[in-house]
Amino acid sequence: MTALEAKQRIEELSKEIHAHNYKYYVQAEPTISDYDFDMLLNELIALEKQFPELIAPDSPTQRVGGEVTKQFKQVTHKNPMLSLGNTYSREELLEFFSRVENGLGIKNIDYVCELKYDGVAISLHYLDGLLVQAATRGDGIHGDDVTANVKTIRSVPLRLQGNYPHELEVRGEIIMPHKSFEKLNQEREDIGEPPLANPRNAAAGSLKLQQSTQVAKRGLDCFLYFVYDDINNINTHYASIQEIGKYGFKVTPYIKICHQVDEVFDFIDFWSEERKKLPFDIDGVVIKVNQFDYQRQLGFTAKNPRWAIAYKFKAERVKTDLLSVSYQVGRTGVVTPVANLKPVELAGTIVKRATMHNADFIKEMDIHEGDAVYIEKGGEIIPKIVAVDVNSRSADKRPVPFITHCPDCGTLLVRNEGEAGYYCPNSVNCPPQIKGRLEHFIARKAMNIEDLGEEKIALLYEKGLVKTIADFYHLQYLNLYGLTKRTISETDGKERLISFKDKTVENILNGIEKSKNVPFERVLFALGIRFVGETSARKIARHFGNIDALSHATFEQLIEVDDVGEKVANSILEYFATPENLALIEDLKQVGLQFEIKGGSQPVSNKLAGMTIVVSGSFATPARRTEIEQLIEEHGGKKGSSVNKKVNYIVAGENMGPSKLEKARQLGISIISEADFMQMIEQE
Ligand code: IVH
Repeated sequence: MTALEAKQRIEELSKEIHAHNYKYYVQAEPTISDYDFDMLLNELIALEKQFPELIAPDSPTQRVGGEVTKQFKQVTHKNPMLSLGNTYSREELLEFFSRVENGLGIKNIDYVCELKYDGVAISLHYLDGLLVQAATRGDGIHGDDVTANVKTIRSVPLRLQGNYPHELEVRGEIIMPHKSFEKLNQEREDIGEPPLANPRNAAAGSLKLQQSTQVAKRGLDCFLYFVYDDINNINTHYASIQEIGKYGFKVTPYIKICHQVDEVFDFIDFWSEERKKLPFDIDGVVIKVNQFDYQRQLGFTAKNPRWAIAYKFKAERVKTDLLSVSYQVGRTGVVTPVANLKPVELAGTIVKRATMHNADFIKEMDIHEGDAVYIEKGGEIIPKIVAVDVNSRSADKRPVPFITHCPDCGTLLVRNEGEAGYYCPNSVNCPPQIKGRLEHFIARKAMNIEDLGEEKIALLYEKGLVKTIADFYHLQYLNLYGLTKRTISETDGKERLISFKDKTVENILNGIEKSKNVPFERVLFALGIRFVGETSARKIARHFGNIDALSHATFEQLIEVDDVGEKVANSILEYFATPENLALIEDLKQVGLQFEIKGGSQPVSNKLAGMTIVVSGSFATPARRTEIEQLIEEHGGKKGSSVNKKVNYIVAGENMGPSKLEKARQLGISIISEADFMQMIEQE
C-alpha cells in the first residue's frame, strides 16, 4: 500500500469507526456486531503501525490508550469550576425558588430538572472541533490534565460533528456504570485485592491511573450537562443541552422543563424511586433556571451559582449498635474487620453486618466498642458504617483494637509499608487461606471444576482429604462416597445437608479429570499468585511459554510483559521463591496439568471465528511460526495455506514472497505483523 492509499483508508476507517462509536456509546443503538467493529479497529491499528506519521490526534485508536503519565500536569481553569449549593429538604427548595423570584423580580420562571450524576466532574475543551484538553475539578481553580485518560472514554467525542463553534468548553460528569463497577471488583477479588467501596471512588481512581491503557478497560462513561460558551445564539440551558447533543456529546435524556414548582417536586419524587433501576448511581436532582439572561442576572456567590441547586436524596441510613467485630482472612491472607450489628432494616433488607475495610478505617472513624453507629447502603451494595454517635458513648468504652494475631491460625499479623491492612503471613498453613486458594482454583474462570463449591471444599478440607490443590488429583471414589455434613447457611440461616452421593462423586471426579486439559494460561491464573489476574496470566503464559521459563524469570524479564508492573513482578518472584510452591508445581506436573502453551486441543476464545488467516514469511524461529498457526486455531480461526479471496489476513514475517505479496494487494487482503496479530487476540 502506498502512503497515499494508506491515508485514504485511514480516513475512511476513522470516519466509519467514529460513527459506530457514536451509535454504540452515545445513542446505544449499534448497527454492527462487536466483532465487526473490532475488525475495523484492528485494521486501523495495523495501518497506523505501518504508517505512524498518519496517526491523527482524534484517531479512534487513541481510545485504546497508550500514554503513561508520571504526574498529571496542573491546569488553570478558564472559568472556575464551581460546585452547587445543595439541600435535602423541600422547605429549602421552596426558599431557593423565592430567592430566584426575588432576585429577578418576576414570577413564573422556567426551571430545568435533570439528574445529579454521582461521579467525577470534568471540563472538556474543544478547539475547532478537536478535543484538546480534559481537566478534573481539583480545587475549582486548578485541576489535573487527564486528557489521555479521558480520550479512552468512548462516549467522549474526540472530534465534534455538526455546526459546532470554534471554541467550546463543556462540563459533565464521568461515571462508572454498575456493570463496569461489578466487573472491576470481580477482577480485584480474583487477584486478592479488596473491593472498591462505590462506583464514584472507582471512577475517580480510574481517572488518576497513570496508564491510559488501563483506563480504557475500566468501562467509564460521561454525561455532559453544562456549556460555558455562547453557542449559535442559544439562550436557554435546555436548548444548549439539545444543541451539544447534536455535536456528538452524550447528554442526559432525563431532562425536563418545569413551568411550575409542583412539576419540580414530581420530577424529584419520580427519580427518588426510579433511580434504583438506572444502570448507574445518581445522588439527587439538579434544578437550574432555564433562561440564560436570568442566569446572568442572578450570578454567583463565592462558591455557587445562584441560579441552580442540587436536591440530594437522603441515602437510606439507620442507626444501630455495634455488637462485636469479627475478622475474616482472605485467600491471600488479608485480614478484613467486619462489624457484627444489632439486626436492623435498611432499604428493604435486614442488615446484621457491615464491612469496616481495614485498621485505618477503624482508627479514622474512631470506632469504640459498643458504639451506636449509622449505616448506609452505598450504591445499593455492601452496607457500610458512615458515622458514629459519639454522644451516646459511655466513658468506659475503649477504641476497637485491631487484632495482633491471625484469628484462625494465631500467627502474628504483619503490615506492609504503605498498605492500609494487616495480613497473616502463614500462607501455607492458615486454614481460610488454604480454603480460599482451593475455591479460587476450582472457579469457573480458573480450572472450572463444576460440582465442587465452597461448602464441599470446606468439608473435604475438614476431613483432611484436600489441603493443597494437588490433593484434588489424588482423590478417589471411596474417599468421597458417603461424606455428609449439616451446615447452616450464612446468608439465609437455613440448614442444609451436603452429601456426596454416587452421582455427585462421579461428577466431581470427572470434572477433576477434565481439568487436566485446561490450558496453561488458566492453570497459571488458577494457582492464585497474588495480583496475577485472568488477563495478566494469559499474557505471562504466552510470553514465557512454560512454567519453567517463568519460574526462572528475573525481575527485568518479568516487567517486559505487557501488563506486568513492579507489584505483579515482585509477587511472582516471591511465589517461585517459596519452596512449598515449587513442590506443589512438581506435584501438579506429575498428575498431568498443562504447564506449557499447547495449541490445538482447546479453543481459548472465538475472536477469530469465521476468519481465514495465512502465515507467511520467516519468524524469529520456525517454532514461532507454528505457534502463530496454533494460536489462530485456538482462537477459533482457520489457518490458510494459499492466498485467495477467502483469506482475511496475512500475518507476515520477514521476506514474504513477492508474488504472494502482490496477490494479497490485488485482493485487498490486510497484511499484518506478528505484533498486530498478538494484539488482535489479546484485546479484551
Ligand atoms: S451543573 C456551574 N448538573 O454535582 C455548575 N452538576 O456540587 C455546574 N453534577 O460539581 C454544575 N450532575 O460535578 C450540574 N446535572 C448536573 C450534575 C452536576 C452532577 C455534579 C458536578 C458538580 C456537583 C455539584
